[in-house]
Amino acid sequence: MSDQLLECAVVGLGMGEQHARALLQDPRCQLKYVVDFDQSKARKFIEDNHLTDVGIRSFSEVVEDKTINLITLASYDDHHYEQTLQCIKHLKHIFVEKPLCQTLNQLNNIHTHWKDTQVELSSNLVLRKAPLYIWLKDFIQRGELGEIYSFDGDYLYGRVQKITEGWRKDIENYSVMQGGGIHIVDLMLWLTGQKPCSVSSTKNKIATQNTSFRYHDFHSAVFTFPSGLIGRVTANFGCVHRHQHVIRIFGTKGTFLYDDLGPRIYWNRDEEGKPEFLPYAPKPPANQKGALVHNLVDNIMQGKSSANTQREFDLMSVVLAADESMSYVKPLTIEYFTC
Ligand SMILES: NC(=O)c1ccc[n+]([C@@H]2O[C@H](COP(=O)([O-])OP(=O)(O)OC[C@H]3O[C@@H](n4cnc5c(N)ncnc54)[C@H](O)[C@@H]3O)[C@@H](O)[C@H]2O)c1
Repeated sequence: MSDQLLECAVVGLGMGEQHARALLQDPRCQLKYVVDFDQSKARKFIEDNHLTDVGIRSFSEVVEDKTINLITLASYDDHHYEQTLQCIKHLKHIFVEKPLCQTLNQLNNIHTHWKDTQVELSSNLVLRKAPLYIWLKDFIQRGELGEIYSFDGDYLYGRVQKITEGWRKDIENYSVMQGGGIHIVDLMLWLTGQKPCSVSSTKNKIATQNTSFRYHDFHSAVFTFPSGLIGRVTANFGCVHRHQHVIRIFGTKGTFLYDDLGPRIYWNRDEEGKPEFLPYAPKPPANQKGALVHNLVDNIMQGKSSANTQREFDLMSVVLAADESMSYVKPLTIEYFTC
């Protein structure tokens, strides 16, 4: 595959515009088609970017087109599962927006169909490209914070109108953990390098009561890990606060905090002690939200990379178990799929 140009299609031109821009910037890729229910949106994207050699097609046309190697999916959440299965069936590499799917049964099916193929699959968890977390991962792995015993993360959405209006309220079983908390769960797994063994959850729907949004808008999950580490993650979609991630990582040598005051580490317990502020950006640049496509293309060029795909299956196992655990009184054991 190494010297072949990858022919690509993008499905859904909201977040998918970022996928398309990343593909246009990657010399190993050729953007051939865009797909959107709204054809005027597709035409506008092509015209605005002077893409005279990009065509407009339907999803079934691109997935059945033998020349297409890579399909990126930024369709609505409840279309990801079927489209991912279709891509696997037609041996297309896949870059899919989060969440990859909506239920554990769907994840099982994707895994079953994917495992004997050479298809590369990755998802767009944009914080993986944030300089702060790339630095912090290495810092934690070197033991600089000591032993990590607690990870707390809050996904403060700050965009409540996106669930009370628009497509999110209309799809079946929209999940705030899959829709936003997933970014924090991904950080928890990646930064600690650990996988939880069980989860229990509670939820409420107070902030969006009497709106068109039908599901819970607040989900609080507690994860236990074999090492004793405890993770607590909330997906808080109704909060009166701007969009913000709040992360607290407690180690035996230091405490990392990130909130609207900025990322910092506390190295002592002094009442007057000042934290060490960190100079790293907590988000990727706004125009780089499709940049993980380049990593997927690296994997395609190098051949099937189970370790990278394992990460996507692990993340979804944890997030979907967190949703499932809301129907259980006792903590739910998390089952993982092995690549
Ligand atoms: N990774 C992130 O940080 C991030 C951020 C925002 C959205 N997203 C994800 O991106 C996806 C789209 O959300 P959005 O905010 O871009 O929505 P959006 O409404 O802004 O855009 C979605 C576009 O996709 C089109 N579309 C949807 N399903 C389609 C299908 N099956 N076939 C053809 N066109 C289709 C719609 O017509 C629309 O133009 C969601 O899964 C969402 O979770 C991810």
